[in-house]
Order: sequence, then structure tokens, then C-alpha cells
Amino acid sequence: MAENFEILVIGSGIAGLSFALKSAQLGHRVAIITKKHQAESNTNYAQGGIAVVTSATDDFDLHVRDTLIAGDGLCDEQVVRQIIEEGPRRVKELIELGLEFTRIDEESYSLGKEGGHSRRRILHVADMTGKAIETALLSAVNNHPKITTFEHGFVVDLITLKKLNQVAAEANLSEDRVVGAYVLDVLSGEVKTLNAQAVMLASGGAGHVYPFTTNPSIATGDGIAMAYRAGVPVQNMEFIQFHPTTLYSNSPKRFLISEAVRGEGALLRNLEGDRFMDAYDDRSELAPRDVVARAIDEEMKKSGSAHLWLDITHQDDVFLKERFPSIYNACLDQGINISKDWIPVVPAAHYLCGGVVTNLDAETPLPGLYACGEVACTGLHGANRLASNSLLEALVMANNGAEAVNKFLGKVTANIFELPHWVDGEMSDPDERVVIIHNWEELRKAMWDYVGIVRTTKRLHRAQKRIENLSSEINEYYWNFKVEPLLLELRNLLLVSELIVQCALQRKESRGLHYTLDYPAKSEEVVNTSVIP
Ligand code: SIN
Repeated sequence: MAENFEILVIGSGIAGLSFALKSAQLGHRVAIITKKHQAESNTNYAQGGIAVVTSATDDFDLHVRDTLIAGDGLCDEQVVRQIIEEGPRRVKELIELGLEFTRIDEESYSLGKEGGHSRRRILHVADMTGKAIETALLSAVNNHPKITTFEHGFVVDLITLKKLNQVAAEANLSEDRVVGAYVLDVLSGEVKTLNAQAVMLASGGAGHVYPFTTNPSIATGDGIAMAYRAGVPVQNMEFIQFHPTTLYSNSPKRFLISEAVRGEGALLRNLEGDRFMDAYDDRSELAPRDVVARAIDEEMKKSGSAHLWLDITHQDDVFLKERFPSIYNACLDQGINISKDWIPVVPAAHYLCGGVVTNLDAETPLPGLYACGEVACTGLHGANRLASNSLLEALVMANNGAEAVNKFLGKVTANIFELPHWVDGEMSDPDERVVIIHNWEELRKAMWDYVGIVRTTKRLHRAQKRIENLSSEINEYYWNFKVEPLLLELRNLLLVSELIVQCALQRKESRGLHYTLDYPAKSEEVVNTSVIP
């Protein structure tokens, strides 16, 4: 028997949790499905904070302008304005849940500054904002009787009327509908069938298409892949944001050194100890991220160095320990005292600006399927996300989505379909796992080498060929073997990589985060790239 819920939420970061909470408060029975432990999400690792207008010296127009400039001509201004203007109301709700942003005094918050912002406007909880938000939301969610959380639940795929042959194979997306999902219980190996009238994708990004990323291991593009397989178009997937400053180490894990450190005056230096950002942009270290990451990449390629330096030694120990406690300690663990030593830094994959196409109500073109947070492409980020706009977007869109789903549930008829059980492949051969691990490494290396910060058409074609070969091998596994998380993640990563490359090949210009040596100039024509299944 399938289990029944009104709403399934896939993912337990700021987007998924705040959407689930709102929906439950509106009276709906909600299931949150999360791949690992409920607190494991990209949100948990967000250091910077939430960009939101709260200060008397700031205003909405300035925040809109900064977002549009960073987005390099590709933001949807109406979306930008709505999200920015709605921000203070949504942030107030977080504060009401008990979240305490760092203050200067009783009257005022400490506001951080990051690249591309013309004002100090980032609300933060020291350098652990994401963790504090996650803690506040989890406590509210776990205390709500209408919310059930399934940990270690991996959504294999969405179930739609089309897949059930309940609408014609050639039906339009608008005639199709989501009716549930197959979910692998990672601990027991059983695939469960969950029946639902609406599904919210809040599964985050896809940093793990690259070997070096700030993202936790859950970021394997699952939501994008399952939406695409359900027939939903994706947009602007070529815009991968590489964070300019992550802590260089021998491990592929990249610990984030928040842009807020540069906001407090940190300087970038090459291996000779010289500053170089002035040669690239008037805004120097606080230029938007695409500019800084490209400059670092160029400097590293020129000198052949494995990293550059970030110098915050003009600030004293007391200030640094209080403002950046987790960065201070992570560096100290590597023998670096940031008040005295320069920090070795390199860029790493950080954020996906494109994703599943949605409108301002978080609706995708497939009825019943919604998306919010990093998985979605609303038009806010354009070609390059302004720092700390993502938590803001997630909060606002989760709220818009909850209101839209509430209306949808008022109109839609309950599912009357008997959902078929999952049928697993026959084979289970642990020896073959090595192939999955090997293919995973090969994919990430190809993406790093050929679809990185600086691209060419030839490199993109090279990546495309490798992805094609790996995909055909992994698809064979998928149909014949018992499903397991590693196989499912690789299948999703391969599809997402293919979508990134397809979008990158469509863009015959350099704009924002997409830079190609074959088309170094920005085109007059402003277009979104998309892939329609
Ligand atoms: C950072 O703190 O630099 C990251 C914040 C963000 O990605 O918006």
C-alpha cells in the first residue's frame, strides 16, 4: 500500500523546512524526505548570511540595483524586486522563531558586507548563519504534529500521470500531474511508494558535479534530474558560481572562507605577496564573485601556483575570533593563525544559478510540482548570484510556494490512482561498485577540466562525449541492478552535467559566470538558455 500525504517536500534546508512549516500551519499533512540526517543541507554550511534591507542607510532600489549589476543583464527585474521587497517580512518570521542575528547593540544588528553590495546589509549569526537558521527551523518543524520527516530517504523518481499511462504519451505538461514519488529507504534498501497531490523540490544544488566544491555531499542535483525526467525544462544551467576563496588543502573538500572576510578588509595577494585585484576591477577584492574568481584563476594559471593568499592580518585576534569563529578555528586546525598568517585560498564550485524553471509562485510547468531554493531558476540571480541573496530567495519563495500549493490543493481532486510498486533490478554485485566510483571520479575530473571557470567550445564538446559514454554505462546499471544511493546520485550527476554542457554550448557569448575563450564578448541579445525534455 502506498502511504498518503497531501504534500511531499524533498530536501531539508532553509527552503524545504520553511515551506513545510508554512504548509503545515495552513493545515496540510506534509512529509519531508531527506537523503541523510535532517540537518545535512547546503543551508547548514552558509557562512555569510541573508542579504536584506534593514538599515536606514540602505533601500530596496539599491539592493535591486546591486542584484541586477551582479546578474549581468540576465535577471528578471520584476522577480528581483518582489523577492527583495518581501525579504524583511520573511526574515522577521525567522526572528520570531527565535533566531538571534548578531547585534552591535540593543538597537542595531551587525551588518556584513560582501562582493557586489553597495551597502552593509548582510544579517548574520557570526560566521555560522546557516547553522543557526537550520536549528531554529528544525526545532519548529519537529514540534509540528502535521509534519513527518523521513531521514535517509532517497527519492528515486517522481510519479506522474504520464508515467502511469493515465494521460496520452504526447500530452502537454499542463495536462500531466505529479501524483507521488518512489523513495528508497537507504537503511533498509526498500523502495517505498508515496502518494501526494503536490511535491515541493527543495533539494539544493549540484556542487558535486565537480571534485572541488564547498557543498556537502548531498548536493548531487537530484531535484533537477528528477524534474527533467518528469518533463520539466531547465534554464541557465551554465551559470555555475565558483566561490573565489576556499581554504586550500590536500583534500578535495573545500572549506569556505566567507566573502564577509573580504568585507572586513581582507586582501588577495599573489605568491609574490602583491595585490592584483585592482588590475581587474575598480571594486578590487569586493567585485562580484565571477570577476574575482576569474581573476584568481588567471593569476594561478600565469604563475602555475596551486593557490593564492588571503590576508586579513590587519584585524586583531579578538575581532577575528568573535566575527569569524568557525573560519578562525578551521584555519587554526591547519596550523594557520589568521590574525598573523595569510590564508592559502583557491576557487571551488559553490552555487548553481540556473535550475528548474519556476514562476514567482514556485510553480513549475508540471501541475503539482513546485521548486524553491537552489534547485529552482526564478530569474533572481541572472548570470551571477549576488552574495547572500540565496537564503533570501529560499525564504521568500518557500512562502510564495506554500500559498500557491494551498490554493492548488483547494482545487485539485485527490489521487484516485493505485500507484504501482517499484520493481527493482535483479542484480546486486558489490564487485561492480568500483565501476560506479570510477565513473563518478571520471565525470568530476572531466567537468573540472573542461567545464570550469574558463571554457571553450572544444572543451565543452570533449566533456559532452565523456558524459555520453558514462551515461550509457550507468543507465544500463540503473535498469539491471538494485538501486542504491551512489548509483542514483551518479545517474543524477550525469544528467545534470549533460544539461550544464548543453546550456553552455547554447550560449555564444561570455556573460556573468559563463566565460568562453571562443566568444569573449557579451552579446547585445539577452537570452536565457534552456533544455526542454
Ligand atoms: C560567503 O559567505 O562567502 C558565501 C555566501 C554566499 O554564498 O552567498
